[in-house]
Amino acid sequence: MKFSFTEVLYALSYALDCVEHELIGVTTNHSKRVAYICVKMGRKWKLITNQLLDLAACALLHDNALTEFIQAEYTEQGEANATNLSIHCVLGEKNIEKIKFFGNVKGAILYHHENADGTGPLKKTWKEIPLYARIIHLADQLDANFDLSDVSEKKYNEIKSFLHQNTNTMFDKECTQAFFNCFDFEEITGMENNKIDGTLRENIPKIQYEYANEEVINFAQLFATIVDYKSEFTHTHCIGIAQKAYEMGKFYGYDEETRTKLYLAGALHDIGKLAVDNDLLEKNGKLTAKEYKDIQTHAYQTYYMLRGIEGFEEITSWASLHHEKLNGTGYPFGKTAQQLGKNERLMACLDIYQALVEKRPYKDGMEHNKAIEILREMAAENQIDKKIVEDINFVFANG
Ligand SMILES: [Fe+2]
Ligand SMILES: [Fe+2]
Ligand SMILES: [Fe+2]
Ligand SMILES: [Fe+2]
Repeated sequence: MKFSFTEVLYALSYALDCVEHELIGVTTNHSKRVAYICVKMGRKWKLITNQLLDLAACALLHDNALTEFIQAEYTEQGEANATNLSIHCVLGEKNIEKIKFFGNVKGAILYHHENADGTGPLKKTWKEIPLYARIIHLADQLDANFDLSDVSEKKYNEIKSFLHQNTNTMFDKECTQAFFNCFDFEEITGMENNKIDGTLRENIPKIQYEYANEEVINFAQLFATIVDYKSEFTHTHCIGIAQKAYEMGKFYGYDEETRTKLYLAGALHDIGKLAVDNDLLEKNGKLTAKEYKDIQTHAYQTYYMLRGIEGFEEITSWASLHHEKLNGTGYPFGKTAQQLGKNERLMACLDIYQALVEKRPYKDGMEHNKAIEILREMAAENQIDKKIVEDINFVFANG
């Protein structure tokens, strides 16, 4: 499959930022700004294009494990806890182990909260920390503390004194020097929300590469993990759908690339849920009409994030139309049977089937036959595809 990994990460960074926002209040486009600062600074070390792409990818993924340890990492008061801070670093590093990078990115995520003087969560000093991690640390801290989407001259001066005060403690001298060399006041204003996409495009090329199916699956698993950990209610949901969609692809005799795309669509179908508050996703009791509508926005959010990615046209459609119904009563677009192809219908059926058979804290997984009965009833009402329900019955009848 051919696509630009960086472009996909830009698109999905919105979802990651939503999680970081919920936790520590970073503002829209945080990951993109971190990526941009990193690449600018990386040039000071004369990194070549592939290294810059790796650095940008790690910057965009710096907090990929936040959903996994959202509760453990922050105390009840919402204060960062130094001991627990290492958890998302360790998990985040592990999550990207199987991801295909151009070169060695070891430690880039593991050490992104380490301080130059060894007072960080893993007690490494700057000489022991790989360059990518040192750069990401500085960029991340600056944007989290100062919101670089809106910098006045006064704020720029505050940033300068913050960096001077923290050189040799939080940040090493080489990094702060590189930052000052790259960012004068004018340069820093290139990160305003209406400029950041253009700024990124100028600085980080969106080059398409061919990825082996296995590499795409690894990538899909990373994102399924991120979404599935958003809520303990649904912690096997996306990965379950991805695997089942892949299996169904086999049953239909699809080629390996199409099956891989189905897997990816399954992994990403609920990525829009990262933009919805957990309080709402996990609300105990009946939802109000407004709350129900708010939850429904996740399907549109999935569409919104995926729609611009070159090479993801089919995946966008399969992933984001999983709540559409053949009789036109679904969302987000209220599409009808003629507008819903076989794989869109397949994802819709699998979404319901998986939700029924998966175990959740408040319910056991339903037996296959019972779940199929419910699907058949929905098919009888022309909500979902009758034939596909029987195919699912055939393929998964024996667990
Ligand atoms: Fe972090
Ligand atoms: Fe961050
Ligand atoms: Fe959904
Ligand atoms: Fe779903």
